[in-house]
Parts: sequence; C-alpha cells; structure tokens
Amino acid sequence: MTPTLVLVHGFPLDHAMWDGVRAALDPRIPVLAPDLPGCDGGRAPAGAPSLDRWADALAALPGERLVVAGMSMGGYAALAFAERHPGRLAGLALVATHPYADTDEQKAGRAALIAKIREGGAAVAAEAMMGKLFRDAEGGRTGEGVAVRAAAERVGVEGLCYALAAMAARPDRTRVWSSLSAPAMVIHGDADAIVPAARARAYAALNPRATYVELPGVGHHSPAESPAAVANALASLWNQAASGEL
Ligand code: MLT
Repeated sequence: MTPTLVLVHGFPLDHAMWDGVRAALDPRIPVLAPDLPGCDGGRAPAGAPSLDRWADALAALPGERLVVAGMSMGGYAALAFAERHPGRLAGLALVATHPYADTDEQKAGRAALIAKIREGGAAVAAEAMMGKLFRDAEGGRTGEGVAVRAAAERVGVEGLCYALAAMAARPDRTRVWSSLSAPAMVIHGDADAIVPAARARAYAALNPRATYVELPGVGHHSPAESPAAVANALASLWNQAASGEL
C-alpha cells in the first residue's frame, strides 16, 4: 500500500507554508497538506483546545498509511497522531520542532499572546513570530515575511487562539518519539532561533532508529528557506516507508 505524505503546518501558518516543498517533491509521491481544524478561518473544534482533536482530524484523511511530517506546531500534532493512531503511521518527520511540553513560562507567554491577539487581531501573531522564524531579521522583510502575515490573517483570531491554547495544554511526548517503530526523521536548521539545533540533536538521539538531517545556515522556517533540501529529506523518508524498511 503506497503511503501518503501528510504535511502539517506550523504557527501562525497554514497549508501554503509547504508550497515550495510540494513543488520540489517527486510528483509520484502522493501528498496532502491540510489546514488543521480552525486554522482555515473557520470554526475551531468544540471543547477544550487540544492537539488530540487535530491528531484525530489527521486520522480522518484518506490513505491507509500516512507518513506524517509536521513543522514546529505541526510536529506536536504529528506526535499526537503517532500516539493516538499508531496503526496508521507509516513514518514520522519532525521539522523544526521537539517532543517536549511547554514550561510554565512558555504557557504564560502563550496566554499573554492570546490576550494580545484578541485585542489586536491576527497581525499580532505574525509580528510576534516574525523575528524568530527566519535565519536572520531580513527574512521578515522578504516575500516570505509577507506570506507569513497573509497566512496569519487566513488562519484568523479564533484559530490562532485555539492553536496557542492547544500547544500550551500538550503533554510531553518524548516516549512516543523514542519508542516509535515506524521510520522516523528529524529535519532541523542549524540557525533555528526557536528550537536550538543542540536541542534537536539531543532529542533525535533518543530514537536510535531515527535519521537526523541538519540544514546548514537555515532557520526555523526551513520549508520556506530551504524547500528543496526539506523535500529531498522527506522523499527519502517516504521511500523508506514505501519500501517497508526500518
Ligand atoms: C511554530 O513555529 O509552529 C511555533 O513556534 C511552535 C511553538 O510556538 O511552540
């Protein structure tokens, strides 16, 4: 059964963040890049914000076996999927992310950002991230910066606030990562200002079967800064999953 590659977006982004990677991927790889529920300008899922709702939405996608690749927040959702739907997981790629829970300080920061977004709108979320998403401050002033601002507006206030609350509530999923039996990969820029590469190297090593791909001179938003390298790495994971190797 040919696996489907599912690309899961980060914050404050949507499916469009993967456009460059999709363009660089081998067209024979079946790809889906959904907007997480509530991140399409529509209604957020009912109930307390949780990445589990997003994991279940990924499980509702077509395709029996999924290679799930999540960038940053998307990686947190991908790990929730791996925990809740292991039978559907054909491979897992964590891009610019990590398996740990928020610290109390991070949770407080998210609560403060929710209040600011409710007051000032979606643009507040884009500006809060802009200085950290790219390898240098210039990134926020390029077309990629424009794309991030446009994405935050499409996601909308409700989706952004749901995302922040769901991230704050997520548990540590280090054991999900370290005990994964499906093919696994970490893709990380060595100039990531949000998740330092040293942290990525350390958690990648907790899963001895995982492949670690470090992208030199690349920041947090590696799918925008280095789409061909991210696509190559994902294609190699997909090939591994498709051929049933471990
Ligand atoms: C992201 O890029 O999706 C966010 O930085 C994730 C986070 O805030 O933890």
